[in-house]
Amino acid sequence: MCSPEHFAVEYAINPWMDVTAPVDRDLAVKQWDRLRETLIGLGHEVHVLTAEPGLPDMVYAANGAFMVDGSVYGARFKHEQRAAEAAAHHAFYESQGCRFIAPSETNEGEGDFAYVPEAHGGLILAGHGFRTEIAAHAEAQEALGRPVVSLRLIDPRFYHLDVALAAIDDSNVVYFPGAFSAASQRVLTQLFPDAVVADGEDALAFGLNLVSDGANVVLNSEATRLAGKLKAAGYTPVPVELAELKKGGGSVKCCIAELRH
Ligand code: ARG
Repeated sequence: MCSPEHFAVEYAINPWMDVTAPVDRDLAVKQWDRLRETLIGLGHEVHVLTAEPGLPDMVYAANGAFMVDGSVYGARFKHEQRAAEAAAHHAFYESQGCRFIAPSETNEGEGDFAYVPEAHGGLILAGHGFRTEIAAHAEAQEALGRPVVSLRLIDPRFYHLDVALAAIDDSNVVYFPGAFSAASQRVLTQLFPDAVVADGEDALAFGLNLVSDGANVVLNSEATRLAGKLKAAGYTPVPVELAELKKGGGSVKCCIAELRH
């Protein structure tokens, strides 16, 4: 994770960002702290990257890389404004002794890559259409040695895969079908016949931008219907409030890069 101490909405690179709307940075830090404490309270270890001035989106740590089985495929940001974030993530993974594969293709890390370890022997789901280039999907497959399934995103409000789909345990996912092309919806139905399906309202409340340890699902508190569905499916929803960071176009998952050693 990376603290929002330099968070701001100074440019608009997704439809959620409104440079004229005020942002309460202190509140953003408070809400982010609560998220970090929630993860620690659930028994998880959290590493924190040093936030850098001039990188207002660095709080969205999920975009910095994608790690599977100790190997890390680095990010290469689409927008110039975020390009410098990649180096901070690279340095972190090197310091952890991970195998790091530098990307040649544009990709935004876990923003557009998800991993489902027990699905079909270990499946990477990858989004394209707005940020990550489809060529990066092939590059990730070569880097990580797992099959990558490309899914096309069609709605600019769901510009990253992680605002439309999430792994909820080792073999299942939750997603909002409307964010995907008809063909990609068919692929998801084939691969995950038992998926939890979210509606547009929950998706727009950033409900799918969640992290799950297989039992506890940490998600945006506004996504109340999705929390109910997850509960009915046997998970424990853990709602957190992240209203300030929503102004940058992100929520729970965007703030968290998962370490898969
Ligand atoms: N303002 C950031 C951007 O548009 C938000 C990134 C959200 N991160 C995510 N993993 N979806 O790049």
